[in-house]
Amino acid sequence: MEPSTLKITKNELLDIDEHIVLRLLTKVLISKRSPNVEIKEFFEVRRPGKVQREAIVDIVFFVLHHKKRLFFSVLGSNNQKKFSTVICAVLKLATVIWNSSDNLALNMRSRGTLNAFKRFELFENGFFPDYSKVSIRFSYPVWIVKNLAEKKGNDNALRALCSSKKRDFVCLRVNTGKSKVGEISKRLSLWGVENEVSPIISNCLYISNKIKISKFDAYREGLIEIQDFGSQLIVKLLNPKPYSLVIDFCCGAGGKALASSVMMKNTGLIYAVDVSSKRIDELNKRAKRAGVTNLCPLVVSSLGDSKIENLSQRASSVLVDVPCSGSGTFGQFPHLKWQLTRKKLAEYKGNQSKILNKAASCVAKGGFLVYSTCSIFEEENDIVTEEFLKKNEDFDSVGLDRCFSAKVRKELDPWIEEGVSKGALLYSSPVSKYSFYFHKFVRQGKSS
Ligand SMILES: C[S@@+](CC[C@H](N)C(=O)[O-])C[C@H]1O[C@@H](n2cnc3c(N)ncnc32)[C@H](O)[C@@H]1O
Repeated sequence: MEPSTLKITKNELLDIDEHIVLRLLTKVLISKRSPNVEIKEFFEVRRPGKVQREAIVDIVFFVLHHKKRLFFSVLGSNNQKKFSTVICAVLKLATVIWNSSDNLALNMRSRGTLNAFKRFELFENGFFPDYSKVSIRFSYPVWIVKNLAEKKGNDNALRALCSSKKRDFVCLRVNTGKSKVGEISKRLSLWGVENEVSPIISNCLYISNKIKISKFDAYREGLIEIQDFGSQLIVKLLNPKPYSLVIDFCCGAGGKALASSVMMKNTGLIYAVDVSSKRIDELNKRAKRAGVTNLCPLVVSSLGDSKIENLSQRASSVLVDVPCSGSGTFGQFPHLKWQLTRKKLAEYKGNQSKILNKAASCVAKGGFLVYSTCSIFEEENDIVTEEFLKKNEDFDSVGLDRCFSAKVRKELDPWIEEGVSKGALLYSSPVSKYSFYFHKFVRQGKSS
């Protein structure tokens, strides 16, 4: 099958040359690099209009998201087709589905596409315990489907798979140290940016992901940050107090440290610890923009670094946001699910346990520790924290009901899976773009 000379037409404004999409899609599918890098490079040479570009990216991500199901639908029982022919057929099928759900029949340009579409629809019937069919239905590697079912049970596994969707919103955190939510909301509206305040986190605003927020003055002035709801919720859970000593272990570029600073009214001290000096440099830039002055960034060489030893039992709140599989972000970055292996997952788990134990050593008596990941796997979540609790008898879980007010608990309820060990997984949902796991502990004893 050759690429058709027809255009992909959604409406009069949206004529896209199918050859361009095909070229980009092929590049993304065979690349080992992130699709975003490939897409950026591709559009440095070709420059379609903004609407066309958005549609092309949408179709490419649609294929990435449903890759396995689309390929199985196109191939049917014939595995012998040429790769280029298959990609072309996959694109046709994807475009038909993406293009118009009301006008599907009109968009079926060939019997091949129609048959592939019928097979695509049939895969909606993939249910547990048939791992293979479920893996096609959700376009996931079979081993992940099996892992989720075995570790979480079929119902929660299904929930995890269903939640892994592309979400078309971005969350902003209004820096209430420098501005007010109402003012920012008004300013955004004046610029024509529709926005909505979260009923759960009062300084969290939702906007469309089509908006390039970095071009707004308010962003450059440090009045707003891009920060997912889950990240903001984790800081709310940590609840760092003014004039206290806080550690953001594995701080990365410091989104959570900056949010903590606002809760601490820019007083006390936050040690922001990471092994990456590049990320700490980024944090320094962001802190300057946000007007944050209570940060002490620490680049450490390893967990044995003496800078960490010096913090032993000193902090009243420690956040440890460990490196993880990123499986909570599969909805936005569907290529990642194909790069993860069982071996890598086991490595993450081992590393997470070591980092959590080290971070815990910095918590003062009576102090709090929050462990978080953006993973949906039990290995990185409840299994790590259960093992931690067994080894560290002076730490107790703080149950969810004691973490949030009854109102917040109620709002979160539809999107939360409570773990056996009092940790919780917030699923990717209309409230949070990514899935996040969090678990709060308290160290026994009286603070001095
Ligand atoms: C999930 S990211 C953290 C994201 C960050 N907390 C945020 O809110 O943007 C994990 C971070 O852990 C850091 N890291 C990895 N191993 C570490 C270690 N042994 N000690 C401290 N940081 C480490 C990585 O460099 C990475 O920045």
